[in-house]
Amino acid sequence: MTQPDTELRVSKIENGTVIDHVTAGEALRVLAILGIDGTEGETVSVGINVPSDRLGRKDVVKVEGMELSQDEVDVLSLIAPDATINIIREYEVIEKSRVDRPESVVGVLTCPNTNCITNAGEPVNTHFDVLDTGVQCRYCETIIRENITDHIET
Ligand code: CTP
Ligand code: ZN
Repeated sequence: MTQPDTELRVSKIENGTVIDHVTAGEALRVLAILGIDGTEGETVSVGINVPSDRLGRKDVVKVEGMELSQDEVDVLSLIAPDATINIIREYEVIEKSRVDRPESVVGVLTCPNTNCITNAGEPVNTHFDVLDTGVQCRYCETIIRENITDHIET
C-alpha cells in the first residue's frame, strides 16, 4: 500500500538507515543512544508523534549514508521495543529487522552507585545485564528500573 503524498511527512532516503515504529516521543533519545548529533555532517530526519496505523502515534528516525549494525540498534530496544530497522540502498528497503532485547549492554549506561568500581576512574567498561524489570550493574548489582535513558553515558 502506498501512502498518498499528502501523508508522507519525512522524505524517503536514497541510502542509509530508517528506524521506524519508535515509541512516540523517544526519537531524540534514540539519537542520543546512537551518538548521532549531526556533527559529522550526516543528514538526519526525525518525525515525532507521526500518525501510525499500528501504533497510533510513532517516531521515525532516518539517517542518511549510514548503515547501523544490529549491535548498535539492539540497545534501542530498552526504549523502543517495537522499532523496525530498515537498511536502504538506492531507495529500496534491502533489509528489515526488529530490535532485539540484548542480554546485556556494555559501555552504554553509567552506574548510579558512586561507590561502584565503574565510577572510580579505573579502566573498566560499565556492564549492565538486562532484566525484565530494568537493568543491573554486573559489578555492584545496583538495579536501574526507571528512566534508564537518564543513565546513558555522554
Ligand atoms: N523508507 C525511506 N526511504 C526509502 C524507503 C523506505 O525513508 N527509500 C522508509 C519508509 O518511509 C518507512 C520505512 O522506511 O518508514 C520502511 O519502509 P517500507 O518497508 O516500504 O514501509 P512499510 O511496508 O510501511 O514498513 P513496515 O511493514 O515495517 O511498517
Ligand atoms: Zn555499579
